[in-house]
Amino acid sequence: MGFELLLNCRFNYRQFIFIDECRLAANRSLWMKSDRPSSTARFVSNGIYWVSQHPRFSCEVPDSLASWTTKLTRCLMHSSLIPGTVLARRYLLFKASLMQACSVPGIYLHQVLRKRSIEKLAHESIASGINQVVVLGAGYDTLSLRLASQYPECALIEIDHPATQKAKRALLAQAGLHHDSCAYFPVDLSDQSLESVLCECPEYDSLRSTLFIIEGVTMYLDEKSVRSLLSCVAAQAKGSVLLFTYMEESRPGCYDFKGTRWLTSWWLALRHERFTWGIAPRKLPEFLSESGFALRWHRTSDELRTQLLSNAHQGAVVALGENTALVAPGSDDSQTNEVMHARGQ
Ligand SMILES: C[S@@+](CC[C@H](N)C(=O)[O-])C[C@H]1O[C@@H](n2cnc3c(N)ncnc32)[C@H](O)[C@@H]1O
Repeated sequence: MGFELLLNCRFNYRQFIFIDECRLAANRSLWMKSDRPSSTARFVSNGIYWVSQHPRFSCEVPDSLASWTTKLTRCLMHSSLIPGTVLARRYLLFKASLMQACSVPGIYLHQVLRKRSIEKLAHESIASGINQVVVLGAGYDTLSLRLASQYPECALIEIDHPATQKAKRALLAQAGLHHDSCAYFPVDLSDQSLESVLCECPEYDSLRSTLFIIEGVTMYLDEKSVRSLLSCVAAQAKGSVLLFTYMEESRPGCYDFKGTRWLTSWWLALRHERFTWGIAPRKLPEFLSESGFALRWHRTSDELRTQLLSNAHQGAVVALGENTALVAPGSDDSQTNEVMHARGQ
């Protein structure tokens, strides 16, 4: 049994990192090509579930995020190798602990913080007049479903790889979580540009100001793809904004989380399957302005910890290296830049 568990963890560990994600190949897109649902998406939702069940940290996961993720994860568990609900839950939690210990300590708390900040910004954006939200590479995230139930006047669209989206929709149906006003558009973005996807998506209304959310995805792209995403968002209705996470480039070509286990780096290097894009925070404003964008809001994981974690958990290990940014077409936001420069980033 122990051996089986370890074998399974190793298999999933290999899987979650990149087996289904973007592979480096000359002259071809870096998006995922596999016909299997994304394992990294599952890794993220398992992580949120793990924190929501943790004896110390569960209070850091807001109720709605915890309950929707729990329902979804419990449906995912039905396909677990171990039958029996309690045993299957324990097995999943054990596996998730092991995966975190072997990859990036504090990765799950980081994911919770990034989701909390994205959710807060989504609410603020809708309150300020945004009336369409497009989530790219949504994975098993539940934000669009929760927004759909709160804002019936706001259009919600998830665009994801067909294999991941099909698996997610089956789970949602199984868990009874489907929401009619949330539209799904399956597309392999390695085959199509976002512009053409938006043109073909029947639910997308090009006249609505739109919040585009790209969480945990840009690290699998290259600079050209990121620039092309920016120019597509810039061409959308007035008031449209982009909320995304990105990896910090710590030194040229290095985009890992701080504290990534050497085994992870070694294995990724061996497989030629490392994160492929990131940028130093101090270079971000200039990079954005080259595409006609300005930074409206920016937080590192450390800043999110200070702002969002309760006092009792300020000393908790949170993975560092992935930041969250809200950007909009327009000129430089000198206030944000001053903050970043003052911090010496
Ligand atoms: C790391 S997961 C992030 C999931 C989610 N955004 C979150 O943070 O919980 C990466 C997502 O990108 C999607 N993706 C990867 N390659 C894709 C492709 N070629 N076309 C469309 N989506 C793709 C995967 O299906 C998956 O949902």
